[in-house]
Amino acid sequence: MIGNLAKLSYVRGVSQTVASGIKAAAVPVKVEAKPTVAVATQVRLAHTDIHVPDFSDYRRDQVKRPNAKNDSADDRAAFTYLMVGGATVTTAYVAKAMVSSFISSMSASADVLAMAKIEIKLSDIPEGKSVTFKWRGKPLFVRHRTPTEIAAEESVSTAALRDPQTDGERVKDPKWLVVIGVCTHLGCVPIANAGDFGGYYCPCHGSHYDASGRIRKGPAPLNLEVPFYEFPEEGLVVVG
Ligand code: FES
Repeated sequence: MIGNLAKLSYVRGVSQTVASGIKAAAVPVKVEAKPTVAVATQVRLAHTDIHVPDFSDYRRDQVKRPNAKNDSADDRAAFTYLMVGGATVTTAYVAKAMVSSFISSMSASADVLAMAKIEIKLSDIPEGKSVTFKWRGKPLFVRHRTPTEIAAEESVSTAALRDPQTDGERVKDPKWLVVIGVCTHLGCVPIANAGDFGGYYCPCHGSHYDASGRIRKGPAPLNLEVPFYEFPEEGLVVVG
């Protein structure tokens, strides 16, 4: 196009009045232009042929019309709240699972929990005898009391006791006494069926316990401790 323009150019005369009164002729004069050499120093592109994609299929109906009121804000807010709520619930669930697994890793293992309880067959303990078991690293006394011992312990007045407890408060079944075999003075292990009261005797400093495990004489301040136990079935006691 630049070359064609360079080949020809036209000069048009104008109508005007001159001093001699002669009117100039308005005749177009064709002038042959001299060929020139065109040097392109830059190239400009109009970019008018680029195809713009149509995204109408992806637009919501509300935004296709420029003069329509945008009433979809509530819908978008509901979606946003739903996403935030879902993320919050998921995060809370994951956090709970992590905390639970962390705490459970610090709790006792199954074998340790199994050691926490001890099952004792009562038929193995003859009447009048006290048998010592090891439970949680301590001696455990299980005594099969005779009717005479039961009657004697039930008749003791709590007014005469240093650590007042009736026999009924210390046993679930009068025939069976279950106590921890640790002297409440300084922690020695008392001897069964010994002492002035026929129950337990601690030789370390001379504490005497009766057949209900109550301190009756000596320096020990408290009765022998009664652990938690139960009789799940006839002839069986579970301690712990
Ligand atoms: S430890 Fe038993 S009387 Fe001192």
